[in-house]
Amino acid sequence: MSGAEEPYDLLVHRMTWEAEDVLSLELVDPRGKPLPSWTAGAHIDLHLDGMVRQYSLCGDPDDPGRYRVAILKDPASRGGSAYAHTTLRPGASVTVRGPRNHFELADADDYLFVAGGIGVTPLLAHAREAGARGRRWRFCYAGRGRASMAFADELDRLATAERVVTLQPKDERGRLDLDRVLAEAPAGALVYCCGPERLLDAVESACDRLGMRDRLRVERFATTATAPPEGETSFEVECVQSGMTVVVGPDESIVDVLEDAGVLVDASCRDGVCGTCETPVLDGVPDHRDVVLTDAERDSNATVLICVSRCRSPRLVLDL
Ligand code: FES
Repeated sequence: MSGAEEPYDLLVHRMTWEAEDVLSLELVDPRGKPLPSWTAGAHIDLHLDGMVRQYSLCGDPDDPGRYRVAILKDPASRGGSAYAHTTLRPGASVTVRGPRNHFELADADDYLFVAGGIGVTPLLAHAREAGARGRRWRFCYAGRGRASMAFADELDRLATAERVVTLQPKDERGRLDLDRVLAEAPAGALVYCCGPERLLDAVESACDRLGMRDRLRVERFATTATAPPEGETSFEVECVQSGMTVVVGPDESIVDVLEDAGVLVDASCRDGVCGTCETPVLDGVPDHRDVVLTDAERDSNATVLICVSRCRSPRLVLDL
């Protein structure tokens, strides 16, 4: 699902401290117009002082008047979250793009949601949506301690006999026993996971051990592929629509080279996380380095995220 393709300005309507170092922002149209619709799992881009960052929508999709995002002040961030925490206040204007959704809730009778820290945000929307569809779920939410775990109360209010919330503050209860939690998931349950990289790696490994990797859907905050220049090689990129062929060097990105050549490309995060630059592949073998495409999408090689991905064959032909 894609929303508005062009950036637009919204107003910060309300700011709430949800937990330690986590604030939520409610964003509204300055003229009170309805906002582009979205579905659970969607994110928007926020333009923050020259940086573009992606935040999951965690409000109510049935409320067309406002978006809600939650922002963790991450000491390891490259500036976006720090800017949001110090500068965005009610009445401030912020440029937005989207929503887009690469983490849609597929249909199933049962779900297991595994959230770590601020990874609760897309899964909160998923849990609400799964409940609205009348589905069963279990929501396991891990964090450093209760004070750092945003939306725990909101989650608890969604709980019923068939929708169970398990909070796992590490300072009280230790780490989540992932093997046990995954093994207890009902047969056929889809597993959705979002959180820090080490949690995602652990869930992927546990799903591999338990033979349930095909039921796992993850959303990553950052690309894991750092693409060191050592060992990279050049390759050609042919853009059929533009009638142009360029050479992408070992330390260049396809997006940068195409932009320098005057080819119109659509890019936002430039980090392989937002999906904006997804481009159809007509020939060649992409070397996928994004965190957006599913394993099946990667295997199909039908599209490529040209901000971070490269090419395994000498030439990549794009429908661009
Ligand atoms: Fe965001 Fe490429 S621009 S994934």
